[in-house]
Amino acid sequence: MSNVTLAASAGFCFGVKRAIEMAYAEIEKNDGAPLYSYGSLIHNKEVTKDLDAKGLHIIESLDGIDEGTVVIRSHGVGKFLYDALEEKGMRMVDGTCPFVKKIHTIVNEAWNQGKSIIIAGDGKHPEVQGINGWCGNTAVILESPEEARAAELDTEKDYAVVVQTTFRQSKFDDMLAILRQKGLKMEISQTICSATEKRQKEAMELSQNVDKMIVIGDKKSSNTQKLVEICKKNCENTVHIETICDLVLKTFKKDDRIGITAGASTPPAIIKEVVVTMSEIENVNVEEVSFEQMLED
Ligand code: F3S
Repeated sequence: MSNVTLAASAGFCFGVKRAIEMAYAEIEKNDGAPLYSYGSLIHNKEVTKDLDAKGLHIIESLDGIDEGTVVIRSHGVGKFLYDALEEKGMRMVDGTCPFVKKIHTIVNEAWNQGKSIIIAGDGKHPEVQGINGWCGNTAVILESPEEARAAELDTEKDYAVVVQTTFRQSKFDDMLAILRQKGLKMEISQTICSATEKRQKEAMELSQNVDKMIVIGDKKSSNTQKLVEICKKNCENTVHIETICDLVLKTFKKDDRIGITAGASTPPAIIKEVVVTMSEIENVNVEEVSFEQMLED
């Protein structure tokens, strides 16, 4: 049996892959007009650097920018940006993940029907800020069961509840139980992405059965941080690395059972490098680590 196991769904999810491909396709056909991404396209320095070198520059606002094309990242943005680009007559390439777009639609429709919005998620995360931008930035944002408990909510109001795509299901369930206890009238949309759930479930199972876990992904990536959190609960020897350079190889011993997973914004090449390196460690027996198929997806 192999000592090294790579989680089957480690790495790029559908939405990130789609946005990256859209960005590279735009670079390819660009004829010299200014090309921007609104915020970093994904939380990965390597990819961001490459895109910048190829002409896709990150902007944080449209101030002083009146022409060219703006690529929207998979996290999505609030309605204000769509309006501003239209007003300026600028082009948009919308890389918003369709699953995030669906949340925008739910929130916008509910808000137009007079409902109040609750978002379970991290208020500092661009996805949550973007979602809030579809209800005039009026949402109550709750990040934890403690915040749900402390929130002053109106039992006379109708609420629509959505959840950040990368949120942990068990945490969301705890928060819903608290909101129900408060007697709120609420329509709940289960908007956690199945890619996230699947990756988190695999990470949980894998980390229960190994001696050491390696989680690969940018330190700023929230879904990577959640994987680290899950793995650490089951395996105290969990390390979070951004690239192979962060891995202290001498900490791995013969016969260690090693699990590897990666966040949704980790490029296949970085995962491959870690897997290959682990296979080259003299005293670790690596057999049949199958990542080729994932690279071709
Ligand atoms: Fe989309 Fe799910 Fe990825 S929401 S961006 S496919 S984690």
